[in-house]
Order: sequence, then structure tokens, then C-alpha cells
Amino acid sequence: MKIMAIESSCDETAVAIVEDGRKILTDCISSQVDLHRIYGGVVPEIASRKHIEAISGLADQALETAGVTRDGIDAVAVTYAPGLIGAVLVGVNFAKGAAMAMGKPLIPVHHIRGHIAANYLAYPELEPPFLCLVVSGGHTMFVEVKDYTQMRILGTTLDDAAGECFDKVGRVLGMPYPGGAAVDRASQSGDPMKYSLPRSKPGNNPFDMSFSGLKTAALNLIHHYEQVGEEVDIPSLCAGFSQAVSDMLVSRAVLALQETGYRKIAVAGGVAANSRIRADLLAAAQQMGAQVYMPPLRLCGDNGAMIGAQGYYEYLAGNTADMSLNAYATRSILGETL
Ligand code: KG4
Ligand code: ZN
Repeated sequence: MKIMAIESSCDETAVAIVEDGRKILTDCISSQVDLHRIYGGVVPEIASRKHIEAISGLADQALETAGVTRDGIDAVAVTYAPGLIGAVLVGVNFAKGAAMAMGKPLIPVHHIRGHIAANYLAYPELEPPFLCLVVSGGHTMFVEVKDYTQMRILGTTLDDAAGECFDKVGRVLGMPYPGGAAVDRASQSGDPMKYSLPRSKPGNNPFDMSFSGLKTAALNLIHHYEQVGEEVDIPSLCAGFSQAVSDMLVSRAVLALQETGYRKIAVAGGVAANSRIRADLLAAAQQMGAQVYMPPLRLCGDNGAMIGAQGYYEYLAGNTADMSLNAYATRSILGETL
């Protein structure tokens, strides 16, 4: 089954064609990152306009590069939530039009479920159940993937997402948006022990997380150095910050493996590209005899292929929509009935 998949929830317009949820026939992306960089973050109105400009050309490009005709497409999948509402709407409206014109089923896909499904593309042998650490720009959570469309949330951040904090620290250090990758690069030559940064354990649920205290501590440290007229050691600050995030995530990953008895843990989302988190999680899981699934960097960030992968399993579960499908800025990964 060949699914045309559309993603437009933030600052990447993406159209992919995926076969049977596992094989990428094409994965076309038009990134707006350079445009938003001059504002230091995504400007929602500009994002929506750019999605409109890019989306139909990208769909043509996808068909051409995959060597598939419109008749060869069996269904259209689309990110319907969560994201910038104007941006998500562009994708949903385009997908509705395409599904109606081609007379094919329309499959709504939750963006975070899509991030998790990037693992099915990278690891053909991976099947639920498994644990997944989701770390994107807007979400940080531990998910038990019981089945392709059945999930349970073990814990989430109670305030900021890890990616937001990476971006904020990068921004205050004068790094280009989005700061996560730049902080990661700078951290390579730093000493993670040079500055003392906090690791928090909020609330009663051991799987819940909080990153705002760490973010504030890092920002206060940078401002302190500015005020006393001294230079902060940027690589060491980035290394210490990344290490603190990694410690908070990996300690909970270990606990999740211990408490659930699972021996498979996957990572998903843009922050899953972080070198320290990848290395620490790999080392910790190997010590416990657990298998770690880490999609390649290009599948960690937003892309259309992950929506096509999850779309296939949503279709098999009967989760299709009609032309009344709406877009939602916020929506739980647990999948309310549409
Ligand atoms: O999943 P994603 O592409 O978009 C959302 O759905 O949010 O994640 C984007 C986030 C941004 O915060 C970006 O700074 C972060 O992923 N990111 C990283 C790295 N690469 C991207 N954070 C830390 N280290 C990286 N190497
Ligand atoms: Zn994303």
C-alpha cells in the first residue's frame, strides 16, 4: 500500500510516499528554517504562508521522484495535530483536497505518533511493544507503545520541553535558531563538570520531568558572567547543560526499563539527534541488556516519511477521516476519537 504523507505542523513542509509503513519511496522536504532564523524563532504567520507556497509543488515532486502516478497512491495521510494551527491547517486542507480528487482514503496522523514511527522506517524488524523516549521541540515524554496505535504515557515534562530549553540556551548564547544542534556542536569541546547545574525530580510520578529550573539556572549563569564582565566558557556551559538534560532523561529511561521489564527502548523527535543523549542512552541500555533504537538524524527531525509510516498502521486500525477532518493545535497522543 502506497501512502502519500503530508507534514506541515511547524517550519518544514514535507511530502513523502511510503510503502506498507516501512519503505520510503521518496521523502521531499522544504525547510523554512533559514527564513525564521532572522527572527530567532518560528513566526507562525510566515510559516503558514510558506507552507501554502511550497505544498503543491512538493507533492508533484514527490510523485515524480518516487516514479508513482496519482493512480498509484492508495491513501493520503496527514499530520492533523499538534502544531501551529495555521501551519497544520495548510497540510490538512491540502490532504483533504488530494484525497477527494484522487478518491482515496484520508488518514489523520498525530505528529508525535509519527515521530515514534520514524523507528519503523529505520528498523524494519522493530515491532511493538516497546518503550519510547519522545524528545522534540514541544514534547518530552516516556511512552509505552503497546501496539502501533495503542499507547500509554508513563510520564511527561511538567513545564518546558527539552528542545525548548536547548533553543533558549542557544539563543541567549547568540547561536542561530534552532539552537539545539549548535549547543550540541559547541558542547563537544567543553567540560561537562565545569559548571554545576541542577537535575530536578518533580512530583510523585518518577517518570515526570521538569526542565525549567535547569533552563533558568543556565540563563542565570550566562547573565552573571555578563554582569561581572567575564566570559563564560561556552563549550563547557553547553556540555554541562546537555549532560544535565541527558542525565534526567537517561535515569528515567533506566527506571522505565526496570519497572516495565521491557528490553526495547526507542527514541523519537528532534532532540533525539543529540550526541550526548544518544551515547548515554546507548551505554545505559547496553549495560542492562536492552536494545536501543535510534533513527538516523534526518528521521529524528520533522519529515513526511514518519507520517506515512504511522499512517499505514492507523489505516490498518481503521482510523480514517472524512472531509470534516479539522486541525488541532494541541491533542493528546492517546488518540481521542475524531
Ligand atoms: O521534532 P522536531 O524536529 O520538531 C518538533 O516537533 O518540535 O524537534 C526540533 C527540536 C528543536 O528544539 C531543536 O533545537 C532540537 O530538536 N534539536 C536538538 C538537536 N538537533 C535538533 N537538540 C539537541 N541536540 C541536537 N543535536
Ligand atoms: Zn516534530
